[in-house]
Amino acid sequence: MEIVQVGVVGCGLMGSGIAEVCARAGYQVVVREVNTEFLEKGLGRIQKSLSKAVARGKATQEQADQALARIQGTVDLADLAHCDLVVEAAIENMATKKEIFAQLDGILPPHAILASNTSSLCITEMASVTQRGDKVLGIHFFNPVPVMPLIEFVRTILTSDETMAIVRQFGASLGKTMVTAKDTPGFIVNRLLIPYLLDAVRVYENGLATKEDIDTAIKLGLNHPMGPLTLLDFVGLDTCLFIADAMFEEYKDPRYAAPPLLRRMVLAGRLGRKSGRGFYEYT
Ligand code: 3HC
Repeated sequence: MEIVQVGVVGCGLMGSGIAEVCARAGYQVVVREVNTEFLEKGLGRIQKSLSKAVARGKATQEQADQALARIQGTVDLADLAHCDLVVEAAIENMATKKEIFAQLDGILPPHAILASNTSSLCITEMASVTQRGDKVLGIHFFNPVPVMPLIEFVRTILTSDETMAIVRQFGASLGKTMVTAKDTPGFIVNRLLIPYLLDAVRVYENGLATKEDIDTAIKLGLNHPMGPLTLLDFVGLDTCLFIADAMFEEYKDPRYAAPPLLRRMVLAGRLGRKSGRGFYEYT
């Protein structure tokens, strides 16, 4: 089966990045948002990122224009009817995802593959509402999608070898390096990342060091591109809390228990870059 048209559900930070990399790799892309306001915002983000890619010499203006021309925005899920692969990148809510999966299962052609970009939710549960469990998997991209070279595939006990072979070809065509994990909360990256980020909050909460020193220590002591508190702001404190809660719910392991400060910062609206303030302030 050849993938020609890719559907992306959600045009937020991740969905817009996924739509962009697919269009840049030559796929026809249909991206769906819940309303025109969110859609316009998402398409604007793609345009901005493509301009940045041109400015950085990662693409020519012509390539950027062609990529943009391959992307069709819609607010109607039915417009994904001709897609060979759909990547769902909607909000991290199981009920919403199951509704989308059930609807897409009725809309898509029988050969189409259905994937979720979820960072922690159960892929098998999403597959359970479809009649195509063998064609359902997780395709987990990383933020910022055009820059981060990894894709994490999440294979359930139902996902077929044929589906895995097709998505591996797809991932390679995007220029990404791929790893495969079982369908367990956090997969590989977040299973290791989230306890580390939670520990960084605990260290800060306990007054061991200033936030700047915690970040500097990790940046320069371990050569990470960002310190953990900067990374929390970058990913979004609400997103990290959501993943931590999902992992704690499944494993009941205190390593995944969110520290009180993280929960309170989220309650106070200090979500990181997206809200203008998290551990740091952003103008
Ligand atoms: N298209 C293509 N390339 C682009 C681009 C775009 N829109 N924007 C930037 N680039 C390229 C740049 O040209 C540059 O390439 P070069 O190294 O070859 O010159 C490279 O990307 C880095 O870009 P910048 O110079 O603008 O940015 P920085 O050097 O400041 O790095 C960063 C920014 C990539 C965000 C870096 O700080 C980083 O890697 N941070 C960590 C990010 C991370 O950990 N992400 C994962 C989060 S976890 C996640 O997503 C999982 C979820 O489930 C929670």
